[in-house]
Amino acid sequence: MTTPEIKLPKHVGLIMDGNGRWAKLRHMPRSFGHNAGMNRMIGLAEHAQKLGIKYLTVYALSTENLSSRPQEELDGLFTLFRKYFKSNVKKLVSKGARVKIIGDLTALPEDVAKLLEDSEKACPDTAGFTLVFAINYGTRSEILRACNLAVERGEKLDSEGFEKLLYTHGLPDPDLIIRTGGELRLSNFLTYQAAYAELYFSDVLFPDFTDGEFDKAIEEFSRRERRFGNV
Ligand code: IPE
Ligand code: IPE
Ligand code: MG
Repeated sequence: MTTPEIKLPKHVGLIMDGNGRWAKLRHMPRSFGHNAGMNRMIGLAEHAQKLGIKYLTVYALSTENLSSRPQEELDGLFTLFRKYFKSNVKKLVSKGARVKIIGDLTALPEDVAKLLEDSEKACPDTAGFTLVFAINYGTRSEILRACNLAVERGEKLDSEGFEKLLYTHGLPDPDLIIRTGGELRLSNFLTYQAAYAELYFSDVLFPDFTDGEFDKAIEEFSRRERRFGNV
C-alpha cells in the first residue's frame, strides 16, 4: 500500500459509526459494539501512524450523543474511556505519538475529565503522530464557545484569531474525513475545519472497518483532485 505515488493525507478525521448495529446483528448489547469499536480504533491508529499519517482525529462522543443517549450506554462509554486512557497513553508516547482531546470536558464525570486532561498533559507538545479524541465534541458548540470568548475579550477577530479560539487550534485542517456505518452526513464533526476536506463514506460498520478498508479510503483520497477554488 505504501507505494511512492500514493498521496497521503496529513490529517484524517474518522467518524466511527455503526457499533450499535454491529452488536445488534450479534444479539449483543450496544456496549459490546462500543468495546469492539474501541479495539478497532486502537488498531487503526497504529496503522495510520505506520502509513505516515501525522494526525488522526477520532469522533468518540458527540455533544448530541451526550445529551441524548441512555445513561447506561454513556456509562459504558465512560468506562471504556477510563480503560483506554489508563492503559494506552504511555505506550503511544513510547512509540513517538501523543494524544490530544477536543470537546467540552466539563460535562463529563469528573474523574474522566481529569484523566483526559492528565493524559494530554503527560504527552509531549509535538510528536510524529497525534491521535486526537473528539469527546463531547460538536462544531456548533465549539463555534459558539469561540464567539463568547471573543465577546468576553472584546476582540474583533480575523480568521487566524478565530481559529485560535477553537478546540482544534494548532491542528491542521483535516484533508480527509472517513465515515463508517453507511450514513452520509457529518453529524457536527469538524464542519468548520472540513470546509475543504475530501469526504469518504463506507457502508462497513466500524468494528469491521479493517486496516485494508482504511487503505481503500487513502487510495481513493490519493486519486482525488483538490482544487481549493482554483481552476
Ligand atoms: C458510533 O456508533 C459510536 C458512538 C456514537 C459512541 P453508534 O453507537 O452510533 O452505532 P449505531 O449507529 O447505532 O450502529
Ligand atoms: C456520530 O454518530 C457520532 C460518533 C460517531 C461519535 P451518531 O450515530 O451519533 O450520528 P447520527 O445521530 O446518526 O447522526
Ligand atoms: Mg450511529
